[in-house]
Amino acid sequence: MAMAMAMTMLFSLLLVRAAKAADDSGAETEAEALLRWKSTLIDATNSLSSWSIANSTCSWIGVTCDAAGHVTELDLPGADINGTLDALYSAAFENLTTIDLSHNNLDGAIPANICMLRTLTILDLSSNYLVGVIPINISMLIALTVLDLSGNNLAGAIPANISMLHTLTFLDLSSNNLTGAIPYQLSKLPRLAHLGLGDNHLTNPEYAMFFTPMPFLEFLSLSRHFTVFAFLKWHRSNGSR
Ligand SMILES: *[C@@H]1O[C@H](CO)[C@@H](O)[C@H](O)[C@H]1NC(C)=O
Ligand SMILES: *[C@@H]1O[C@H](CO)[C@@H](O)[C@H](O)[C@H]1NC(C)=O
Ligand SMILES: *[C@@H]1O[C@H](CO)[C@@H](O)[C@H](O)[C@H]1NC(C)=O
Ligand SMILES: *[C@@H]1O[C@H](CO)[C@@H](O)[C@H](O)[C@H]1NC(C)=O
Ligand SMILES: *[C@@H]1O[C@H](CO)[C@@H](O)[C@H](O)[C@H]1NC(C)=O
Ligand SMILES: *[C@@H]1O[C@H](CO)[C@@H](O)[C@H](O)[C@H]1NC(C)=O
Repeated sequence: MAMAMAMTMLFSLLLVRAAKAADDSGAETEAEALLRWKSTLIDATNSLSSWSIANSTCSWIGVTCDAAGHVTELDLPGADINGTLDALYSAAFENLTTIDLSHNNLDGAIPANICMLRTLTILDLSSNYLVGVIPINISMLIALTVLDLSGNNLAGAIPANISMLHTLTFLDLSSNNLTGAIPYQLSKLPRLAHLGLGDNHLTNPEYAMFFTPMPFLEFLSLSRHFTVFAFLKWHRSNGSR
């Protein structure tokens, strides 16, 4: 019995080895990357119990794959996860377009290497306990349409380089501890429909945004006392032309 079990284990080990060897240069796979990140987390309610090599990666909770079996989405909102984002980055994620880790207990800083996930279109880290500054390199995520960092404890200034993210439609940095002036460059984001900056400690909330028209803007919140909802677009479509 014990002998049979030992043989089975040895055989599985060899299989894993063989699979790895077949997987070219020994580079980390997406499954290995996700498990490496999981090993740094506290998953008190076992939200990630399906994350095991016994299950196929594409069946793991919160993981979506494309037809080729590559991970395209990581959606774990409200999964009661504690830990940091430090071990999340991997070069294995070549097709990852969505990260939604909102409403968890993530703390620590947003690692600058998140900027290497160049295929991301949605990055939602809202309602966690993230600290530190918004890394300037986030402006290298040039495919982003949604960037939601609201409801954390991020400090420092809003990097003007965020204005390099020309495809952004949704930018929410509200309810943090951000300071300094709102960079006027944000008003140059051509597709922005939602801009939330309220509930921070920014110095020029009421004036910053009106240098250039923002044709798609439907929601604008700059401070606790200054929220415009669906007004600007209405105004433009009804105003003099
Ligand atoms: C996947 O993991 C879960 C939780 O550990 C387990 O209950 C389930 O049987 C596994 N599914 C497969 C197909 O192995
Ligand atoms: C996944 O990424 C690789 C590397 O960039 C690329 O060659 C491949 O076409 C992508 N797959 C899809 C379905 O986009
Ligand atoms: C997870 O983080 C929350 C918020 O910081 C905290 O209240 C809770 O005790 C943490 N849970 C564990 C298991 O560490
Ligand atoms: C951040 O951007 C700078 C300048 O573009 C670059 O030198 C640096 O390597 C980047 N950091 C990471 C982690 O990609
Ligand atoms: C930030 O913007 C400046 C000026 O546009 C540019 O020179 C610099 O490379 C940008 N840095 C990053 C990390 O994108
Ligand atoms: C906000 O940032 C300031 C420094 O800019 C710091 O003194 C303060 O403790 C921070 N507040 C919170 C709630 O972290």
